Amino acid sequence: MKRAKGLSKRRHTKPPSHKVVISVIQQKGGVGKTTLSVHLAHMIADLRPKWNVIVADADPQQSARQWVERGISHGHTAVSAVAIAGDGEGKALRKELQELEADVVVIDLPPAIESISLRAALYADIMLVPVGASPLDIEAAQAAVNVCQEAMDLDPRKQMILVPSRVRQGTASARELRPVLESWGQVSEATLSLRVAYSDAAVSGEGIQSYAPRSDAYREISLLTREILTIIENREE
Ligand SMILES: Nc1ncnc2c1ncn2[C@@H]1O[C@H](COP(=O)(O)OP(=O)(O)O)[C@@H](O)[C@H]1O
Ligand SMILES: [Mg+2]
Repeated sequence: MKRAKGLSKRRHTKPPSHKVVISVIQQKGGVGKTTLSVHLAHMIADLRPKWNVIVADADPQQSARQWVERGISHGHTAVSAVAIAGDGEGKALRKELQELEADVVVIDLPPAIESISLRAALYADIMLVPVGASPLDIEAAQAAVNVCQEAMDLDPRKQMILVPSRVRQGTASARELRPVLESWGQVSEATLSLRVAYSDAAVSGEGIQSYAPRSDAYREISLLTREILTIIENREE
């Protein structure tokens, strides 16, 4: 495992030539946006140590920023965090993103599909939509998918990835989730299962790569991150 991890790090990979914006969008609260945003940002920084990765927190609750800052106070400094879209609408979002000195910006959004999420879709290169496995969760995700679809119609280079999130393995709803999502668009190979390590890592402000390396949660986030890095790096070619 250790060897495989070291080999795959590709430490010499150059940062992307343009700032990459990844927006995590879902109007439903509690579906795992913040958890996904922070673990993804940490894993990108871990797999691409030369890249400058920032979590931009657009949720008034600021839980992603607090998570990252708690980590920094514990010595986990690979990722930084800022508050953005303080007006709640993101009228200055474009300028705020331009001003960030980063190779990758992960935007954690509030549970809303109003102007802030629309703008975050408009300015994203990659849109991630975490979707829970219950029928209610699936229904609720449709609005976010529609927003992403509109953004992709305007700019076909944009990509939406649906991410099965907080999935309880072995249940009927878990089995039914993937085929439904596949009928909507691209689905991540990785499924983020319900695992206590994801939430416990927040206590010390860590990403899963330092909190629980070699765990199943680590494997899920690293698979997802590699899928996203492949998209980013293929664009560079
Ligand atoms: N894959 C997971 N396994 C276990 N708990 C999770 C997982 N994803 C999120 N959680 C927990 O579920 C709750 C909601 O997650 P959060 O990331 O805050 O969602 P959102 O940002 O969409 O509101 C939090 O308590 C979080 O710790
Ligand atoms: Mg959140």
